[in-house]
Order: sequence, then structure tokens, then C-alpha cells
Amino acid sequence: MNIQVYASPERTCQAAAELFVELAVENTRQHKPFHVALAGGSTPRQMYQRLSVPPLCDRVDWSKVHVFFGDERCVPPDDPQSNVRMARESLLDQVPIPASQIYPIDGTLDAQVAAVAYERQLRAVLPETRPGLDLVLLGMGDDGHTASLFPHSDALRAVDRWVAAGFNPEQQMPRVTLTAAFINGAAHVAFLVVGAAKANVLYEVLRGDHDPHRLPSQFIRPDSGNLEWRVDQEAARRLT
Ligand code: 6PG
Repeated sequence: MNIQVYASPERTCQAAAELFVELAVENTRQHKPFHVALAGGSTPRQMYQRLSVPPLCDRVDWSKVHVFFGDERCVPPDDPQSNVRMARESLLDQVPIPASQIYPIDGTLDAQVAAVAYERQLRAVLPETRPGLDLVLLGMGDDGHTASLFPHSDALRAVDRWVAAGFNPEQQMPRVTLTAAFINGAAHVAFLVVGAAKANVLYEVLRGDHDPHRLPSQFIRPDSGNLEWRVDQEAARRLT
């Protein structure tokens, strides 16, 4: 586990964008496609905006990038709450990624139906020899959720699936989410967490008792990949 702390949210988002570029460039150097899952949320949005402009965007061979989603709200793709809409506005519409290499979760379907369909989509694109993603980007809520893996939810028990139905109790909204088991199969998982409001939960997740059904971000422990945290000093203030 590698935790990097930065002086500001801006620097933190820049560092996360630079990590994306480094990993994408390395995969391209090895003549491999770059399979990445994007997160929703306001902090990841700031990162995507930084990634979408030079010099960072010019360093990525977008023809080799395949974009998936860590989760989605069960809303139409043009809904202001849609993660794919946010990703298109902040990044995907600004870079030359082939449209066929963007794999949104269908938010117009029933969550369970969408989860089955998305797992089928993942299995169709990811090679059987390397079924994990290269990078999964994650945010973290102040309740310790990540993706749409909410505390005490059924999705936390979906250990034999790649995608599950979730439910955001605060918004009373059905969601679709990658499971912790599938996320943990990635080569790299990177959390992006900023702000004083996250200080207590970040401390609990990293230094507190292991209680992953209460703090789902604790389920994220890559099987063999790297776990990266990019946080600002406000979020990290209880860690130091
Ligand atoms: C979502 C995200 C969710 C988000 C966290 C952090 O769809 O909302 O997947 O897990 O990343 O809630 O969001 P903020 O960065 O906005 O606090």
C-alpha cells in the first residue's frame, strides 16, 4: 500500500492524473491495451479535467485505452447524476478515444439486469489470460463506501461475481457496481480522497479496526496488484 499526501486537492488530483498517464504509457510500451475503470464523484471529476488537457492528455495513446466504470447510478446517460455523463464531459469528449472503447454501464436497466449485462461486457473485452483491469480508480465517501459498495449492503457479499446491484441509501437510488472481488483482481487500484470531511473515515479505514461491512473501502485489497492512495493533507490530518 502506497499513500501519497499532497498539500492541496489540486495537487492531489494532478498526482492521480499523472499516475493514470504513467500506467497507460507503460502498458502501451508493452504493446498492451490499457483497461481502466473510472470512478464517479466530484473528486475524480477534478482529476479527469486535469487529465483532459495538455501536457497530460498528449502523453496517452488513447487508441490503446479502454474505459470501463467502477459504478453507475441507475439513471439515463444524459442525467446530471450519471457517471458516464460526468466522465464524457470532464474527459472522454476531450480526448481521441475511440467511441467503441468506452463501455458504459446501462443505467436505464433494472440494477440486477444491468449488472449481469455489464459482467458479460467485461468478460467479452478482457482476455481470459488477464481478466483483471489494469487500473481501477476509486473515490471514497465519508461513510467509507467506495464505488457503489455501501455499508452493510448485499453487494459486499457478491464474492463470486464481477458486477453487482447496489443501492445508495442516502439518495434512495439503485446503483450498479464492480464487486470488491473483481476490483481486487486489478493490477493497480488508486483511491483519490481529499477534504477535511474525509479525515475521520480515512483514519478509520487505514488505521482503525478491520470492519469492512461497516467500512467497505477496507474490502479493497488487491490480490497481487498495487494499492495506491492519493490524498490531500486535510483528509490525511489524522494519519500523520
Ligand atoms: C459515485 C462514486 C462514489 C464516489 C465517492 C466519493 O458514483 O458517487 O462512485 O464512490 O467516488 O462517493 O465522491 P466525492 O469524491 O464526490 O466525495
